[in-house]
Amino acid sequence: MQRLLSPSILSADFGRLYEDVKKVEAGGAHMLHVDVMDGHFVPNITMGPVVLEGLIGKTTMPFDIHLMIENPDRYVKSFVFPNTKVISVHQEACPHLHRSIQNIKSLGVKAGVAINPATPLWTLEEILEDIDMVIVMTVNPGFGGQSFIEGGLDKIRRLHEMISKRGLSVDIEVDGGVKLSNGKELLEAGANILVAGSAIFSQNDPEKETVKFLKLMGY
Ligand code: DX5
Ligand code: ZN
Repeated sequence: MQRLLSPSILSADFGRLYEDVKKVEAGGAHMLHVDVMDGHFVPNITMGPVVLEGLIGKTTMPFDIHLMIENPDRYVKSFVFPNTKVISVHQEACPHLHRSIQNIKSLGVKAGVAINPATPLWTLEEILEDIDMVIVMTVNPGFGGQSFIEGGLDKIRRLHEMISKRGLSVDIEVDGGVKLSNGKELLEAGANILVAGSAIFSQNDPEKETVKFLKLMGY
């Protein structure tokens, strides 16, 4: 699977969102990870489609949209922009996950499923063949800058095995507490997409940090 870097704009400066996006674009990042929170599914409220609208036509970076919201089916369509590459919903927020996935796919974008740290991998067993990506949460979703929950490494290994055994090509994205210091072991465990928020945007030079991550990823 192709290794991709997806900086999370949650840690960007929203007063200068465009400038921050341009920094990681200049550094060569592959996608923009967009954290949408509703104050219900997670204890924080972030951005809606209007924020992304402001970037359309100004960046060619693909959007990797992570919906941390209840009732995502209702809102998926409003996140389909020319830049939207993949939309992920939380397993814990979707009682009819199969339907939610079909809904995303019917809009012509890739579909992902995110699982919280306490959610077991077996909850993906019946849906794995229908999805393009799994987001393994390695923090409890809601905030940037939290520490990596160690059990995540083994979970990635086991998910990678589960996917390979079935001969599927499903991306494994790791989200939460990803740093330059643990990026390599996450890739070795089987993740191929790294999300990094504070490790990129909370630093002095996000472009430079992007380049460092890409180097670590073999680019
Ligand atoms: C957390 C979000 C993450 C967050 C990661 O709920 O889903 O995408 O931005 O931030 P860092 O990389 O700082 O842990
Ligand atoms: Zn996220």
